[in-house]
Amino acid sequence: MARIGLLTGGGDCPGLNAVIRAVVRKGINAYGHEFVGFRYGWAGVLAADAMDLTNESTSGILHRGGTILGTSRTNVFKEENGLERVQDSLAKLRLDALIPIGGEDTLGVAGKLSEAGVDVVGVPKTIDNDLAGTDFTFGFQTAVQIATDAIDRLHTTAESHNRVIVVEVMGRHAGWIAAYSGLAGGADVVLVPEYPFDIDEVCARLQRRHASGRNFSIVVVAEGATPKDGDLQSEFESTDSFGHVRLGGIAIQLEREIEARTGFEARMTILGHVQRGGTPVAYDRVLGSRFGVEAITAAHEGDFGKMVALRGTEIVRVPLTEALAEPKLLDRSLFETAEVFFG
Ligand code: F6P
Repeated sequence: MARIGLLTGGGDCPGLNAVIRAVVRKGINAYGHEFVGFRYGWAGVLAADAMDLTNESTSGILHRGGTILGTSRTNVFKEENGLERVQDSLAKLRLDALIPIGGEDTLGVAGKLSEAGVDVVGVPKTIDNDLAGTDFTFGFQTAVQIATDAIDRLHTTAESHNRVIVVEVMGRHAGWIAAYSGLAGGADVVLVPEYPFDIDEVCARLQRRHASGRNFSIVVVAEGATPKDGDLQSEFESTDSFGHVRLGGIAIQLEREIEARTGFEARMTILGHVQRGGTPVAYDRVLGSRFGVEAITAAHEGDFGKMVALRGTEIVRVPLTEALAEPKLLDRSLFETAEVFFG
């Protein structure tokens, strides 16, 4: 019998509760382990702030968005004596291993702890789908569905008012959400960070489309998209404890530029955290449950320093170092498929 700590770090994400439930259910029923959940990610680990996780306390949470544990963007290695405090907490709570559920930042901390001798198995989470080592992260499909539903609704107004509507989606420095939701929602232009755009080309494309008889257009822009000449910027300058700049607001500038350059009436919508909220779609509940079961199985077998991952249709384990090497950017072929439908 082992005692294992769980935590959820980084942005909240649909499907986190599915993972927690799966780890605890399999871990107790099949292996007889005990679990605690740290509150608010690595902040809870640093403070030894944890609650017992049982079959009862993790029941009825599968369909719930967010995380019953709470989350934060805390960087253990930016805190004074961070490593020692983590080690002290694990000793105090008599924990044998940790299962951190998070994206590149949370798992980056997990990787460093692993190098320092802490037994960890990571679970990949992010709506951005930008983690290497896994084909998909849970949360992504829900974000894509929410963005697609929004694009469908915005079509109505675009068409009724003869407008260009610019829809900004999340994704940080990867264009996965933009490309998938743009493709699913029938966007006329999709702008992603991987391929800097030329505002003149975007406007020319819209003008060609409208000249051929269309009276509206939908432009999907990823929050991290940048123009080739670099003169449109994020609205924010603040950075988090992992050094990531806060993104958002490129749609405001695109709306202004498109209207000024084409004369078409333009409006923008920034979807923001709506994409992370609410119930996970079935795909993310299933993927989260599969990841959770594999993560506790790996921990039970003593297979540490790994991250569970999806490869094709199989759940596998990959070294944490492989998952953290580089972010996984958008496939060129997927973007080319989306481009086929551009106006
Ligand atoms: O990584 C998930 C994500 O939603 C990104 O798409 C976005 O840039 C960022 O988190 C927003 O972070 P916060 O919730 O801290 O504003």
